[in-house]
Amino acid sequence: MAGSRRLLGYLLLLITLAFLATTAEASVFGSILKKLPSFKQEYPEGQVIATQAVQNVAVKKVKREGKRVAVIGAGAAGASTAYHLRRFLGNSTVSSVPVNITVFDKHTYIGGRSTTVNAYNDATIPIELGASIFVEVNSILYGASQELGLSFSGSSASTRRIQGESNDVLGVFNGHEMLFTYPEGRWWSLMKLVYRYGATAPWRTRGLTQSVVGKFLSLYKAPIFPFKSLTAAIEEVGLKETVSLTGEQLLESAGISGAFATELIQASTRVNYGQNLGLIHGVETMVCMATDGAVSIAGGNWKIFQGMLNKSRADVKLRTPVTSIMRRDGEWAVTYATDGEKSQTEVFDEVVIAAPMQYAGLDIAPGLESKPDTIPYVTLHVTLFASPRKLDPLYFGLPEDAAVPQSVLTTLNATEQQDPLFTRGEGRNAAGSVGFFSVSTLRSVERGNRTEYIYKVFSPDHYGDDKVRKILGVAPGSEEEVTTWSYRHTWKSYPYEYPRVTFEEVKLASGVWYTAGIESFISTMETSALMGMNVAKLVIGEWEEAKEVEDEKKRVRLEMVAKAEAEAKRIMEERMAAKKAAREAAEAAAAATLLEVKIEEVAEL
Ligand SMILES: Cc1cc2nc3c(=O)[nH]c(=O)nc-3n(C[C@H](O)[C@H](O)[C@H](O)COP(=O)(O)OP(=O)(O)OC[C@H]3O[C@@H](n4cnc5c(N)ncnc54)[C@H](O)[C@@H]3O)c2cc1C
Ligand SMILES: *[C@@H]1O[C@H](CO)[C@@H](O)[C@H](O)[C@H]1NC(C)=O
Ligand SMILES: *[C@@H]1O[C@H](CO)[C@@H](O)[C@H](O)[C@H]1NC(C)=O
Ligand SMILES: *[C@@H]1O[C@H](CO)[C@@H](O)[C@H](O)[C@H]1NC(C)=O
Ligand SMILES: *[C@@H]1O[C@H](CO)[C@@H](O)[C@H](O)[C@H]1NC(C)=O
Ligand SMILES: *[C@@H]1O[C@H](CO)[C@@H](O)[C@H](O)[C@H]1NC(C)=O
Repeated sequence: MAGSRRLLGYLLLLITLAFLATTAEASVFGSILKKLPSFKQEYPEGQVIATQAVQNVAVKKVKREGKRVAVIGAGAAGASTAYHLRRFLGNSTVSSVPVNITVFDKHTYIGGRSTTVNAYNDATIPIELGASIFVEVNSILYGASQELGLSFSGSSASTRRIQGESNDVLGVFNGHEMLFTYPEGRWWSLMKLVYRYGATAPWRTRGLTQSVVGKFLSLYKAPIFPFKSLTAAIEEVGLKETVSLTGEQLLESAGISGAFATELIQASTRVNYGQNLGLIHGVETMVCMATDGAVSIAGGNWKIFQGMLNKSRADVKLRTPVTSIMRRDGEWAVTYATDGEKSQTEVFDEVVIAAPMQYAGLDIAPGLESKPDTIPYVTLHVTLFASPRKLDPLYFGLPEDAAVPQSVLTTLNATEQQDPLFTRGEGRNAAGSVGFFSVSTLRSVERGNRTEYIYKVFSPDHYGDDKVRKILGVAPGSEEEVTTWSYRHTWKSYPYEYPRVTFEEVKLASGVWYTAGIESFISTMETSALMGMNVAKLVIGEWEEAKEVEDEKKRVRLEMVAKAEAEAKRIMEERMAAKKAAREAAEAAAAATLLEVKIEEVAEL
């Protein structure tokens, strides 16, 4: 009976040891062994197991402490991922875990599609080449700008106005006539709007915009945030239907139609996304109308992302394309090459792909559980130029002595507006006969003894010098040099925002995350930053869960160790007691014998 009890006790110990072998509890394990010398003596095979267990524990201990995160892309999404990882970490149950963040970008600069070029190569005149504005409800960008102490460059309509120049901030041109001009900040500008479009359409548009923005903002808050599935999140905030309709369908169903839609709203979807209302979905359409508190950062919006990366204490590797990510022992081996040097490979726990997958050029093995689709992106030509000349009013269908509005947006002409080839078109067809999406006068510059103006054109094709000369009103055949500086860039700027109801996954595989799925929903700096924040929260959430599981395992293990110790102690005590009893019995027997002998002796006397 006592023998089988003892065996049970040792079995319990062996089970405990096996548990401990899978963990880093070497010290607890060692102390158990020390406390049980008889275990070693009596069960040699147990000791072999124990020695192996200790060795296993030692191997595990060598594995590095802490976490490593690779972020591919130093644009809005990547910078926000790094920034929010560091921030959320501070408040998390895993705050004591050392975390190293490495951010890779193939370009020489931080910011991705948010970047500036210097007019005349003069660093004091930076011009946005990509994303130029964000708005008041963009709380991540607003908040970060404030935290970083960055100042706004006053690009809101009222301050952007060029001193003493045009009064008309905005005009809508269809290739042959200027349909509408919107004068800045005057009570009669509203009158003019109402006169042309009636009061209902602008009013309803405002209501619809507020409703969409309100729903969108739920993505930032619990219980929606953080979201593992963008598809589900969009449904939960109530935007599934809006995103499944074209802008045209949405506006029609809201009773907004006619000239207000095809002139003002469409002019806006064209300048923002190079698309017309027959193609672009309802959510992105309303985003274009949410312009309250539009600002940009003095010196360039990219400064927000640089500041975020500073705060994240990430190791930022520029001129460093990542070429592959390969799964290896539950981690990801990331291969990259700085400046065309020999490639290197480093291992990471988490990899965040913060760029559109189709342009990232990544070799990924094994294949991802969810692989993002290739989606059509707008090819956008940005043409910047400087000239002492002003835009030619005649070109824009205005009287010779009129001032051309500072921002000229465009729309389709009446014929094109009836034709799906244009209203649903991509590229050149989207632009229509007017040939470009917008031309803006960004600012004036005093150079030498004269004033020059800096212009920006968005177009679906190369906007050549011949076209530039035309809008500046240079007579054909004239030899006159009219541009003093120019810069051209072609972007894959944003997706064609077709109506859809499913979106790319946020988590592509264990340890692989993706931000750019949100671009088919809303493509802005803020939404990319939101996705970065979302991924950061999900990653830390997983680490916290893993820690909880680990803590629970540890608790169970310690409980088992305590039980085993108690059981061993009890067995020992039992044995001691048995030994003591046996000794006492023997002594008693001896005493009894002695007594018998004594009695006999006495009897003999
Ligand atoms: C002309 C234009 C005007 C726009 N206007 C506005 C606007 O006014 N307001 C607004 O909010 N948004 C605007 N946008 C949209 C906005 O720029 C984007 O939605 C946003 O910047 C996307 O940020 P992102 O970080 O997701 O991607 P990106 O900015 O594209 O960043 C991705 C980065 O990843 C890097 N990368 C890719 N693959 C690799 C690799 N394999 N290894 C290393 N690095 C890699 C790229 O070099 C890039 O820097 C505009 C865009 C354009 C082009
Ligand atoms: C993080 O970086 C520091 C400094 O380079 C290094 O000493 C440490 O081992 C790294 N930690 C991880 C988890 O990689
Ligand atoms: C961290 O916690 C503090 C105090 O609870 C809170 O004020 C702060 O906003 C939190 N920060 C983040 C990033 O959640
Ligand atoms: C980020 O850090 C660099 C280098 O220290 C500094 O020059 C730059 O001003 C910082 N940017 C922001 C926006 O804080
Ligand atoms: C309107 O667009 C059509 C198709 O692009 C074009 O042929 C026509 O010339 C345009 N009309 C005017 C008045 O510009
Ligand atoms: C401005 O400068 C140019 C050359 O730099 C000169 O030819 C021209 O006469 C000047 N004009 C005025 C108004 O001073």
